[in-house]
Amino acid sequence: MDGRVKPGHDDGEAERVEIILRQRPMTLSLETRDLTIRFGGHVAVNGVSCSFRPGELTAIVGPNGAGKTTYFNLISGQLTASTGEVWLAGRNITAMSAPLRTRAGLGRAFQLTNLFPNLSVEENVRLAVQAAAGVHYDMLRPWMRRTDLIARADAILDGVALGARRRVAATALSHGDQRKLEVALMMALEPKVFMFDEPTAGMSVDEVPVVLDLIARLKQDPTKIILLVEHKMDVVRSLADRIIVLHNGQLVADGKPAEVIASPVVQEAYLGVARGKTAA
Ligand SMILES: Nc1ncnc2c1ncn2[C@@H]1O[C@H](COP(=O)(O)OP(=O)(O)OP(=O)(O)O)[C@@H](O)[C@H]1O
Ligand SMILES: [Mg+2]
Repeated sequence: MDGRVKPGHDDGEAERVEIILRQRPMTLSLETRDLTIRFGGHVAVNGVSCSFRPGELTAIVGPNGAGKTTYFNLISGQLTASTGEVWLAGRNITAMSAPLRTRAGLGRAFQLTNLFPNLSVEENVRLAVQAAAGVHYDMLRPWMRRTDLIARADAILDGVALGARRRVAATALSHGDQRKLEVALMMALEPKVFMFDEPTAGMSVDEVPVVLDLIARLKQDPTKIILLVEHKMDVVRSLADRIIVLHNGQLVADGKPAEVIASPVVQEAYLGVARGKTAA
């Protein structure tokens, strides 16, 4: 099947299908083609070709140093590939800067470098919402009257369970709350692709569910692509629709969670289980 529909149907169905097929390249897709980066002699990401689909949460797993964060950096534009390409929604974005990729819909939760440290949690989220809405300072229409944007910032704060900490200066937050604020700032930008790199790392046990619930809620939107780097296999099992495994910079497994977790390459290379045994 070449994706084309023969003309000649008289019920209009063919025409409708043809229109849908023509539109398909415009739907959201993210793809890396033979993506590679070398640091000196070390190939940190090595020829990774992979497509990500809307409505799917892909967990990216692999041992420390496997290249997971570097792969994210190549997708979001913090690093430039040595060779290979990144495609978003049918566009080759390999040469695009990180800020332009953000505007194109790639959302990445960062350590809080884009933060205004002395402003409150609430002010930071409001500024991010404002930036995403493209609202500029306007004497005639002060920010405080933009109740829609204020409501959106409030909803985001509640979504990451930071409502009670809203008046606290961003720098005064605990480590776990700072991670939640990172996620809040990403949410504010309303990305099409959500990239989480170990979002619960360093969080206390009672803080973890807030972030996992939020990711689970995001998953219900069938138009979003979600990528999650995660070491904790129980988290991966509960959230992932698909798992890809990176090992020494290479993509060594890709499939449904149960299949990938049971595969010999994961059992041996990643989970460190001897041949013939199965990880719990
Ligand atoms: N800017 C850099 N310069 C040189 N080497 C780098 C750079 N960034 C990453 N590396 C190397 O690339 C390899 C992959 O690192 P990366 O951080 O992507 O691994 P990871 O899979 O995210 O590991 P972890 O699970 O520990 O976070 C490592 O050997 C790392 O030392
Ligand atoms: Mg990493």
